[in-house]
Amino acid sequence: MEQIIFRHDTVLSEVHMLFANPHHRMTRLNHVGQPVFLSNFKILVEKHNDEGKGIITEEKYKDPGGASGTSKADTHGEKGEEGGEESEVPFLDEDGDLNIVRRPRKNPLDAGSRDLVCPVILKQSDPELEQEEENTDDEEGQCPKDIIRIEHTMATPLEDVGKQVWRGAFFLADFILTEPLMFRGATVLELGAGTGLTSIIMATVAKTVYCTDVGEDLLGMCKRNVALNKHKMEPAGGEVRVRHLDWLQHDLCTDADMEFSWTEDEVADLHNNTSFIIAADVCYDDDLTDGLFRTLYQLCSNFLHPCTIFFSIEKRMNFTLRHMDVSCEAYHHFRCCLSQLKDLADGRCHFKVEQLPSNFAQFLLYERIEHLELWKVTATPLSFEQARSDSEPLSS
Ligand SMILES: C[S@@+](CC[C@H](N)C(=O)[O-])C[C@H]1O[C@@H](n2cnc3c(N)ncnc32)[C@H](O)[C@@H]1O
Repeated sequence: MEQIIFRHDTVLSEVHMLFANPHHRMTRLNHVGQPVFLSNFKILVEKHNDEGKGIITEEKYKDPGGASGTSKADTHGEKGEEGGEESEVPFLDEDGDLNIVRRPRKNPLDAGSRDLVCPVILKQSDPELEQEEENTDDEEGQCPKDIIRIEHTMATPLEDVGKQVWRGAFFLADFILTEPLMFRGATVLELGAGTGLTSIIMATVAKTVYCTDVGEDLLGMCKRNVALNKHKMEPAGGEVRVRHLDWLQHDLCTDADMEFSWTEDEVADLHNNTSFIIAADVCYDDDLTDGLFRTLYQLCSNFLHPCTIFFSIEKRMNFTLRHMDVSCEAYHHFRCCLSQLKDLADGRCHFKVEQLPSNFAQFLLYERIEHLELWKVTATPLSFEQARSDSEPLSS
């Protein structure tokens, strides 16, 4: 039998799939022909309860799709919340079923060194609405405080997944906004940050966020996103530094000639002061997941202080011929890596693993599906535990 070859490994984040509207603005094509969009993601009204935890007002939040994902609400702008755009949402039939527009087939005769991605542009931007949107920006051209503006692409090959925004990024951002006191003033490292959305939210409460990923063009996009949202971080004195960190390489790049490299001071700051590591939707390939866990182990076992890691992960169920059933192999591998960390007895670091409840408040509009999970890993160097027990007074 002839071997089947899948030439397209194009993936499209659900975040972008359902929500085409004027608040996604296509701005240009990048160098591999992918349309680049500028999207506004609204942060819902924020209040803090007596314990300092973020809560949102019920009336502001509308489930963008509920469990079925078929709500007609425009989830990224106020228009939909007012119902003003509902009649324009073209993706549902009269029974409420979602009509997916198929991507046009690529002409097999077009040979190129790399497949160009041809996403369907679900809706063209409306110049009038663009103008309206620009009018909401302040005098310095910055968007309102409750909007996070992100440049991203849609429908990319697997190697460029970081250029899209994934539900896990929103989920982790929601957790940060629910627990601002936990992260206030902290030094934080984000691994596999993609567009930088979660790092930007983190920097609205934390002091320094090292926002890391791989690839010059992705890191460039991320840096532009940080600049677009700078005014949100400044009130809390937070700052995002976009840096290169590859889970498949042993060392951090400190070559001053390279963009996104680390200074010696930053490396020292990372090692001496990082109290949180965050990672959203980063486990989708087993080899990369192994690299990620090796990186985490190396970092945490060299710290002289405890560090807490938060992972958001979406359990994506797929039918596989190998299992003849639906399963989520990437998730299963993630859980295996967590178990290995927990059972590790190397005499250097102790890891505690727990799954957190996922019913925390929702500040960003996306579909909070039950397959989104949040995991917490606490890494404590044994030298720290030893020093602490040595300094504790002996009980009589
Ligand atoms: C599914 S995306 C998630 C992006 C972002 N956290 C989000 O949730 O929107 C996975 C991320 O892992 C990054 N990644 C893949 N391999 C990596 C590696 N070897 N080192 C560092 N980051 C890597 C990708 O570039 C991408 O940004």
